[in-house]
Amino acid sequence: MLGEGRPPRGGATTMGTGQTSGRGQRSGRGGDHREGPTLGEGRRSMRRGEVALKGAVGEVGWREDRDLHMTAGDGETSYAKNSRLQEKVIAKVRAILEKATIQVYKAILPKTMVVADLGCSSGSNTLLFVSTIINTIAAETNKQHGDCDQVELQFFLNDLPGNDFNLLFRSLEPFKKSIATDQDGQILPPYYISGLPGSFYTRLFPNQTVHLFHSTCCLHWLSQVPEGLQGQGGAYVNEGNIYISTDSSPLVVKMFQEQFYRDFSLFLKLRHDELVSGGQMVITFLSRKKEDVFSGDLNHLLGLLAQSLQTLVYEGLVKKEMLDSFNVPMYAPSAGEVMQIVKESELFDLEHIQLGEDNWDPFDDSIDELVHDSVQSGANVAKYFRAAIEPLIASHFGEAILDMLFAEYARRIGEHLEKEKTKHVAILVSLKKK
Ligand SMILES: C[S@@+](CC[C@H](N)C(=O)[O-])C[C@H]1O[C@@H](n2cnc3c(N)ncnc32)[C@H](O)[C@@H]1O
Repeated sequence: MLGEGRPPRGGATTMGTGQTSGRGQRSGRGGDHREGPTLGEGRRSMRRGEVALKGAVGEVGWREDRDLHMTAGDGETSYAKNSRLQEKVIAKVRAILEKATIQVYKAILPKTMVVADLGCSSGSNTLLFVSTIINTIAAETNKQHGDCDQVELQFFLNDLPGNDFNLLFRSLEPFKKSIATDQDGQILPPYYISGLPGSFYTRLFPNQTVHLFHSTCCLHWLSQVPEGLQGQGGAYVNEGNIYISTDSSPLVVKMFQEQFYRDFSLFLKLRHDELVSGGQMVITFLSRKKEDVFSGDLNHLLGLLAQSLQTLVYEGLVKKEMLDSFNVPMYAPSAGEVMQIVKESELFDLEHIQLGEDNWDPFDDSIDELVHDSVQSGANVAKYFRAAIEPLIASHFGEAILDMLFAEYARRIGEHLEKEKTKHVAILVSLKKK
């Protein structure tokens, strides 16, 4: 067993890489400061200081319940309008989710099957998951009994309190109408849908009451920014970066790895307590292909965002201390790290594990290595990532920088894609309670 304070083995291997590369020994992104301003024309015309700088460093503390949520509503920059990438992930997971649903149903034959989506957000993806379960159970029960009297479905849609539950609740009536008319002659099981605000790093359900857990694109979000990065005593240990970067120190790498280790272990323990015997869990989240902790696509995505923030620092639009004191509470583990934590927990049998990848640009469905329009792709990626991270950025840096920051981010992503068609990597894990 790995003890507290030690990173998982996969991480330990890659820590070696980190240890040989002390701060400043790698080329890193320091060049961006020297590059000078790279802001677009509209922004160049903005005089320094025109944007009110967010107040003193440390004035604003990040709070999971308040600041971590996707961009609300259904406007241009909302998550609801910018979640095609996650939709593609859900489509890839569907077969595994259907299999787990049928297995649980057949093994337990519950009168009421309790199913929970953890980190549901708001928008069409949330209800895609609900319709998949309803249709799977309908197909199974219609085949078995010719009707659906045997089982009722109780759905819990969970997210943090800051989630736009109102938008979600408003979409339920249209959803019910559309699923009723789309049923292909099948009788649907009665179903009930409730919202459940709260962190999935806490207990959400009574002991042994849930049959199936599902979560897409969430568990790379940590419960908190790793302690120790916060710069107590004025020293910021991940200066100029917002995630693990090639010039982050081994200590920084260790802090992110250990936070993920603690969070994911806790998540497994909590869900194990809540699942009935024979219950299952199907989860996907951002991952990385190689064990090398510096090589993942999240490193690239957040590295480019850090560079965009550096440009705003150079322009005098963001205080340097504000950047130095900001870190994103995310971690994309390798499959090896995930497997090791599951194994060490001794709580679940691993039914299925798989890495999948997709183009960064959610609207690029091509399978070749060409980025056909890097400017458009840059804009698409920046928009999708903004929908996920804007509330966090706004709470730390203030809202005034958002448009400038994400325009710069789009430009940098476009430039990056011209050199390399980077892919998102997601891990799919299907677990059965022991
Ligand atoms: C990228 S969205 C994914 C939403 C949806 N599952 C999908 O696939 O489109 C990640 C969601 O996880 C939620 N989330 C992050 N940390 C959470 C936590 N500790 N507890 C509950 N939800 C959390 C966020 O608020 C956000 O809505």
